[in-house]
Amino acid sequence: MVINGKANGEFHSSYLYDPELLHGLEWNSAQNKVTPFITNEQPGEDYFLVRPLQIDDYEKGFLQLLSQLTTVGDITQAEYEAQFRKMQKAGCYFVTVIEDIRHSKIIGAATLVTEMKFIHKCGMRARLEDVVVNNTYRGKQLGKLIVLTVTLLAKKIGCYKMSLDCKDPLIPFYKTLGYTLEPGNANTMMLRYESKL
Ligand SMILES: CC(C)(COP(=O)(O)OP(=O)(O)OC[C@H]1O[C@@H](n2cnc3c(N)ncnc32)[C@H](O)[C@@H]1OP(=O)(O)O)[C@@H](O)C(=O)NCCC(=O)NCCS
Repeated sequence: MVINGKANGEFHSSYLYDPELLHGLEWNSAQNKVTPFITNEQPGEDYFLVRPLQIDDYEKGFLQLLSQLTTVGDITQAEYEAQFRKMQKAGCYFVTVIEDIRHSKIIGAATLVTEMKFIHKCGMRARLEDVVVNNTYRGKQLGKLIVLTVTLLAKKIGCYKMSLDCKDPLIPFYKTLGYTLEPGNANTMMLRYESKL
């Protein structure tokens, strides 16, 4: 099996991670969370394709989609590709996208990042990052679909928990998908290196 594009020590796959990993996710456990029921393999419309990020997604508007979430900045195709290869080599990034294949356009994305630990019997935890659906496609359950896809993927690859940070208005959205606020851990604090220490 080619994991994270790595075959025979080389990183040359066009996929950030092995698309096989998205087959057979345990949607039974998430059945009551999406109505009507859709899955990554049956996303409701035959022109929606849920798959790992690919090296040519620069041309399919992946960065324009991310700019609906936050500042992306000017990134050349070469910069995008270099970052893609670094993430592929690191092996812990599972950027997952929804493509509208009618228009060869990326219209949804979510990132699963895994972190290996010594605690919890050398466990692995997961973080959910950079969830976004193109504003003209919102309200069609694609947000739920992409979040549940990476949530089930994290379970499949053996993570013991998945966490995320979100703004208050989105707490109900994540609650419907099974996420809960951890008591005593409601706020996340951070230090930004661009500011003076
Ligand atoms: C959040 C986001 C991904 C949801 O995508 P979507 O495709 O519209 O979501 P769905 O169609 O699956 O909607 C799921 C539910 O969440 C609710 N919801 C969606 N966006 C919401 C928002 N911004 N605030 C509050 N509730 C929201 C919907 O009303 C819907 O509820 P329902 O099932 O009871 O009708 C999308 O609004 C988005 O990309 N927002 C901008 C980026 C962002 O904020 N990302 C999240 C960072 S944590």
